[in-house]
Amino acid sequence: MSSTPARRRTAILVSGRGSNMTALLDAASDPDYPAEIALVLSNRPGAPALDKAEAAGIATATIDHRGKGGRQAFEELLQGELEAHGIELVCLAGFMRLLTPWFVEQWTDRLINIHPALLPSFKGLDTHARALAEGCKIHGATVHFVRAEMDAGPIIAQGAVAVADDDTEASLAARVLAVEHEIYPRALALVASGAFSIEGMRVARTDRGNAEIPALIVPSV
Ligand code: GAR
Repeated sequence: MSSTPARRRTAILVSGRGSNMTALLDAASDPDYPAEIALVLSNRPGAPALDKAEAAGIATATIDHRGKGGRQAFEELLQGELEAHGIELVCLAGFMRLLTPWFVEQWTDRLINIHPALLPSFKGLDTHARALAEGCKIHGATVHFVRAEMDAGPIIAQGAVAVADDDTEASLAARVLAVEHEIYPRALALVASGAFSIEGMRVARTDRGNAEIPALIVPSV
């Protein structure tokens, strides 16, 4: 008799519209996907992502970061909520709060983020405008393990797009977002499957035969 491996209980932390969250929910709706989304948590009351998660039948929570008596007090509430739901992995998906080293260390190698640039280039905000201003010919998105330093950590997957001569910030952002929706579910699948090793900043797949989870995606757009 074969037994199906347990799916890793995963929380998605959001602040806004939640299109990456939706991509993860869609992927996890397949019972064979190695992660199940057990909680969507927002630091912003009324974030559109919450409605979408509720419509998909996912448990949601809101912890408003304002008026919580500081960053660590907010994060202690966050940690309590994650523990109460038995969460094993955390995905940041447009979660626009910096996390303290204390929180990050609770989740070493179990906390992943998506950033709309090819790290280590363009950490921080306004990545598409900055890539255009620098004349980049290639731009993209990165899924990485979170470390205490902002937008840094071992890279799990990247997706690249060509920058067109007539690209605007909006047109480039839209193409990169489509890539984000491809790479995030694949990256979470790899992390949830456990078939990887981390050495310094390098993430290697230990199940190299798994063609479903490429580390670099270059769509033909
Ligand atoms: C995404 O583009 C994500 O990469 C970015 O915010 C957007 C959220 O969109 N994240 C960051 O900039 C974090 N530094 P979404 O809510 O539709 O997923």
